[in-house]
Amino acid sequence: MDCDRETPATRERSIWAFGGGKGGTGKTFIVANLAILLARQGSRVIAFDGDLGGANLHTALGMGRPTRSISDFTRGRVARLEEVLCPTAYDNLKVIPGAADDFGGANPNYALKSKLCKHLRQLDCDFLLIDLGAGTGYNVVDLFLEADVGAVVVTPEPSAVELAYRFTRAAVYRRLKLLAGLPRYEQIVDEAAAESVAGNVIRLVEGALERIAAFDRGAAERIEGELYQRPIKLFVNMIRDQRDQRLGAQMCDVLNKFYGPPCEGLGALPYDERVPLAERRGEPFVLAYGSSDTAAQFAVALQRMLAVSRDVAEGTQLRLI
Ligand SMILES: Nc1ncnc2c1ncn2[C@@H]1O[C@H](COP(=O)(O)OP(=O)(O)OP(=O)(O)O)[C@@H](O)[C@H]1O
Ligand SMILES: [Mg+2]
Repeated sequence: MDCDRETPATRERSIWAFGGGKGGTGKTFIVANLAILLARQGSRVIAFDGDLGGANLHTALGMGRPTRSISDFTRGRVARLEEVLCPTAYDNLKVIPGAADDFGGANPNYALKSKLCKHLRQLDCDFLLIDLGAGTGYNVVDLFLEADVGAVVVTPEPSAVELAYRFTRAAVYRRLKLLAGLPRYEQIVDEAAAESVAGNVIRLVEGALERIAAFDRGAAERIEGELYQRPIKLFVNMIRDQRDQRLGAQMCDVLNKFYGPPCEGLGALPYDERVPLAERRGEPFVLAYGSSDTAAQFAVALQRMLAVSRDVAEGTQLRLI
């Protein structure tokens, strides 16, 4: 699902996707609050609810049931994605609500996904933030790979950590297949994946590239070059103690050692009992508890985001994976 791309020098907007495999890790919460903070500091922001089967970004932004949604676009009721943009209560921030009741829309076909990502790239904004659903299926991973920067959101629960690794593996694998291009090379990638040890993605990639190089060394070098140019950003949420605090660095070590693309921390938020209180009142957390430590950590993540986006725009850092 490769869209026509602008070169980094001419690209105006920075597209960020937040995924991670496990449900309930805080992807929607993080996207909603970062979107509000970005908009408040003057960036023109669009938040896209890419959770095609479980949309709730509008709720996290304190909105009622939207009158427009991505279904209007995927069902062909409107021709352009701009037509489903909804205003929010916040200056500079618009939202593309996800489909709440559109079961077919949860599994768009390839052509529809290509059309969607083309329109996403053409949206007029400084930042497009994509809130992904849980899971490691192609519909989730493909949207993740369309972003300029992908953030993996994880909590300290073992199942969340496990699924964050699995999600990253799925993203590298899918990216490898997309870069492979020719059906013969895609089959080689599948064979290498079938033979590889689950946690060692680097070995999978090496195995596939060795075999592709036997046919075409230039193709293997091109794929390798593009595959590892992009970093992974890790966002650790719901930290409760000092052990949890070390999780981000530990996971980055593992990802760097076994997964390939350089990994670094983007954000780290404590578990905060006030989060559900703000949610029940329909108030975004960073506004309801703006002077809390948690809000301060959001501000730190925001600064990192801005720095990474600048690097991406200047071409110092290319896209994820
Ligand atoms: N740091 C935090 N402290 C306390 N509660 C939190 C924190 N982050 C998120 N939550 C709460 O956890 C719940 C799950 O968060 P959220 O819906 O953002 O997860 P998600 O990853 O988007 O889930 P899904 O994959 O199902 O879309 C929400 O009720 C949210 O308010
Ligand atoms: Mg969500």
